[in-house]
Amino acid sequence: MEAQTRVPRIRDQKEIENIVLQMTLEEKAGMCSGQDFWHTKGVERLGIPSVMLSDGPHGIRKQETGGDHLGTGASIPAVCFPAGCLIASSFDRELAETLGETIGNECQAEKIGVVLGPSMNIKRSPLCGRNFEYYSEDPLVSSEMAAAYIKGVQSKNVGTSPKHFLANNQEHLRMTGNSIIEERTLREIYLASFEKAIKESKPWTVMASYNRVNDIFATENKEYLTGVLRKEWGFQGFTVSDWGAVNDRVEALKAGMELEMPSSGGVNDQKIIDAVKNGELEENILNQACTRILANIYKYWDNKDENAVFDREEDHRIAQRVAEESMILLKNNGMLPLSPNKKIAFIGCYASNPRYQGGGSSHINSSKVTSALQAGMGNSNISYAQGFTDGDEKVDISKWEEALETAQKAEAAVIFAGLPERFESEGYDRLHMKLPKCQNDLIEAICAVQKNVAVVLHNGSPVEMPWINSVSAVLESYLGGQAVGEAQYKILFGMINPSGKLAETFPIRLEDNPTWPYYGKDGNMTLYREGILTGYRYYDAKNIEVLFPFGHGLSYTEFAYSNLKLSSDKLKDTDCLQVSVDVKNIGKRLGKEVVQIYVSAMEPDIIRPVKELRAFEKITLNPGEKKTVRIVLNKRAFAYWNTEIHAWYVPEGKYRIFIGKSSRDIVLWSDIIVESTTECPQVFTRNSTLGEILKSSSGKKAIEEELQNLEKLFASEESSDADDKNVILSMPLRSLISYI
Ligand code: BGC
Repeated sequence: MEAQTRVPRIRDQKEIENIVLQMTLEEKAGMCSGQDFWHTKGVERLGIPSVMLSDGPHGIRKQETGGDHLGTGASIPAVCFPAGCLIASSFDRELAETLGETIGNECQAEKIGVVLGPSMNIKRSPLCGRNFEYYSEDPLVSSEMAAAYIKGVQSKNVGTSPKHFLANNQEHLRMTGNSIIEERTLREIYLASFEKAIKESKPWTVMASYNRVNDIFATENKEYLTGVLRKEWGFQGFTVSDWGAVNDRVEALKAGMELEMPSSGGVNDQKIIDAVKNGELEENILNQACTRILANIYKYWDNKDENAVFDREEDHRIAQRVAEESMILLKNNGMLPLSPNKKIAFIGCYASNPRYQGGGSSHINSSKVTSALQAGMGNSNISYAQGFTDGDEKVDISKWEEALETAQKAEAAVIFAGLPERFESEGYDRLHMKLPKCQNDLIEAICAVQKNVAVVLHNGSPVEMPWINSVSAVLESYLGGQAVGEAQYKILFGMINPSGKLAETFPIRLEDNPTWPYYGKDGNMTLYREGILTGYRYYDAKNIEVLFPFGHGLSYTEFAYSNLKLSSDKLKDTDCLQVSVDVKNIGKRLGKEVVQIYVSAMEPDIIRPVKELRAFEKITLNPGEKKTVRIVLNKRAFAYWNTEIHAWYVPEGKYRIFIGKSSRDIVLWSDIIVESTTECPQVFTRNSTLGEILKSSSGKKAIEEELQNLEKLFASEESSDADDKNVILSMPLRSLISYI
């Protein structure tokens, strides 16, 4: 794509405020809701344009007439890129940015001012019907990939709308559910997923979700919409409600929720007008909302690119590249890559008719779709049998027999399995984590007649793999977008070396997941009982065996890691730590590796995950080539959210820096001591224990005299037993009085 170097025109604040000053109360109230399903309201007499917002996120779902948020109505033919689950697996920020640029350009060509995405809720449970749209179980991956996508789209002077803010992690009762989450979990996992993307990439809008967060609707939640988003993170855009998410229009406006979508047919505009008139709502709040909306609408309007062209063929190639760089080789005992000279059986309906996108508002009317069978059309060594029908649970005997015979006659079989679309979609959750029974049975049956079996998966979220030990290879293609078949074919036959890594853990069985058995079973309440232990943070803490760990993904080449260096072995939490490590391609083909850096607090006296991903970098290496990867870690890499000081806090002590090929495959590590520069203010009562007081220097000072007596006691013969000392340390002040 041609590089564009237009300097965007940005109107200054005064100019926008002047326009708002000229608007009537009615026009201002109107500005705060949609004209119809997809457009903001224009005001002709003041030259205020009406701008289109459109889904998103992995392609454009532009509805020229009418509108729906379920993805059922007609939309223009567009390019369906891989879904978020696959894009995240690339761990490639540049790729996500390229995707953003491509979609931004499509928006320019189609006169869309804001694309509704990226979708960046955390994957709490594999059952969430909308996981396919989301990036990861890990907030760093989610936020970094989203940041790159936003940067790409907005470089084309088109806005984005990171969604769904906040704690919208299930589809079950999504419009009324109440996510009950404690402060630390919100900060470390659910807010963190948005934080970096918002601070670094400055989205023009943020979409407030349907659900409630700790009893208050996300659209009315001032603490997060204004306190965190604007005041702490410096968000400058406007917030928009998810479609139909507004509960109380006036309360929402007061909380910082500016644009209601879609149109309320004037009903809510009137409520705003009445509230201003009767003094319930300060007009100033309304003025501010209009200023924020207009400032961002004009950013698009003043920088429209009349020459932009939506080249569907060209963008199909980009969809293919994204898929190629993201698919994950989960298992390979040497069967892959396939040789074009061998007889290969392609089995399964998804080989000819792939499942490549999810249901709901992100559903694209694809301009074309390529299957693996089409991609391999020139290869006369490929035979095909359908094996099963999409959506069927039961075996179809004639298809089954044909599949077995085809597999048996070939030298290897590739089974294209996956979840039918009705199994996972926006609007409802999955009931289980299994593939349809007929598919599982067919895989086992084929393994009995053919020793070389690879499975290619099409799914938006993890599935159980009861046949994993019987097959030779597994390629996870998630929901690969409309060029899925070309990418699968090139990876299977080795034209592309796979380099995707899992951005989520695949548990062996659903029951192992941290949200089991309460996910979706708490009525209207959604209790985040697992707290900060989401995904690998939980599996590691409980040392649970997993099917495939977070960060896992194989290559056709091999990488050797060496020479891990830290810039220091002791630092203050305000300093930065430079980490460097050498990675060498010791195989025979060009490959890409994702270097993963995890940090672990070694002596925590509060709950901390065993390790947390704190940085990653994707690199390309030729055979024999070695590169040094350098990464800087700052305070956040060591910190947790301290609820006493309501801030990030690094407890003094030893930390371990891990270099991993996945969260479970650690290749190098090194330790560092971090000194804390923040002392948590502490309040002592007669029920504080001596141990707690001695930990703080101010506490220590306050009881110096008594301390000296105690020190003598600890030093004396009678009390040399460590148990005695611990008993005393755990005594509250009230009981010490009788002791000393
Ligand atoms: C979805 C949003 C989407 C909107 C408009 C809602 O139902 O949750 O993600 O952008 O509809 O289609």
